[in-house]
Amino acid sequence: MRLAFIGYGNVGRALAALIRRKRSEFPFVITGIHTLRHGTAADPKGLPAEPAFGPRAESVEAFLEAARADTAVELTTLNPSTGEPAISHIRAGFARRMHVVTANKGPIAHAYADLRDEAARAGVAFRFESAVMDGAPVFNLWRHTMPGAKVLGFTGVLNSTSKVVIETMERGGSFEDGLAKAREMGITEADGAFDVEGWDSAAKTAALANVLMDARTTPQQVSTRGISRLTPERMAEFRAEGKTVRLISRAKRTGSSLTLRVRAEVLDRGDLLACTPGTSNLILFHTDLMGTFGTVSIDPGVDETAYGVFSDLAGLLS
Ligand SMILES: NC(=O)c1ccc[n+]([C@@H]2O[C@H](COP(=O)([O-])OP(=O)(O)OC[C@H]3O[C@@H](n4cnc5c(N)ncnc54)[C@H](OP(=O)(O)O)[C@@H]3O)[C@@H](O)[C@H]2O)c1
Repeated sequence: MRLAFIGYGNVGRALAALIRRKRSEFPFVITGIHTLRHGTAADPKGLPAEPAFGPRAESVEAFLEAARADTAVELTTLNPSTGEPAISHIRAGFARRMHVVTANKGPIAHAYADLRDEAARAGVAFRFESAVMDGAPVFNLWRHTMPGAKVLGFTGVLNSTSKVVIETMERGGSFEDGLAKAREMGITEADGAFDVEGWDSAAKTAALANVLMDARTTPQQVSTRGISRLTPERMAEFRAEGKTVRLISRAKRTGSSLTLRVRAEVLDRGDLLACTPGTSNLILFHTDLMGTFGTVSIDPGVDETAYGVFSDLAGLLS
């Protein structure tokens, strides 16, 4: 299977390394890489491990023509407000009858139902496992292992930056110390406010609701309040009471209405939702046939995100 990468940053490079490592088992060949500032490389016969980048192709369409791939792998920077230009990149792939795999939650949070339908009309696959909870199975879990079951709601601890800030304040540091630490760990989005004000969680909530509950919503429609009003003093009080705080995403369907919200919630320290330190994530699905069950991902990093994309690609081979 020939792959055209749109975006070649942390995830793109980790994925290329994983594909090289697994090349005796999985027949993936990278025939093109398109970036914003580093130019474009394309060779339908396959690119070397350290490709030479020429001038940037004049459009994503021109790039996809040059790469002659079967599958576009969309790994560009998240645009939380609109999901663009990733949505257009994905459509350019569908227009060429290419499968598309992405790790970008923007398109899933803003335009999932349209993209799903467009992929079906084009007769191609659209996969996005790494868009939420890095590579841990969330979407593919539902795709492959839950026939007949319906998601009635979910509860998730999905933002790492807010947890690092909370844990820093619990140890006596300031809010800004926590944000600086999260930046140092490379886990914040370009604008840290996006994480602590809850918009990262809102985007993930919208993406999950769109895919698992056919919500046809956007992050702007998720009722969102972040952790920016928490102080080290307040955290010390909670700690003395055996409590902590987590930024929680919740979805709940009641009759025909769907409630989506992100809130900083005060929890007992022993609460399951409080037991995910640092960058670890957790989601619980509330279902009609399988009760409540969940997925936990302990300290995921960029290699796990790359694996999620790899798992989507491997799924297209079968
Ligand atoms: N990092 C993670 O652990 C993680 C986890 C889950 C999901 N994701 C998602 O995965 C995606 C990639 O993340 P990342 O960490 O690899 O980002 P990154 O390191 O910032 O890389 C982004 C890449 O996209 C390219 N790019 C940006 N705009 C473009 C455009 N208009 N046309 C073509 N290329 C463009 C950039 O080009 P230049 O190299 O020229 O700047 C760069 O190569 C994001 O959507 C992110 O939200 C990441």
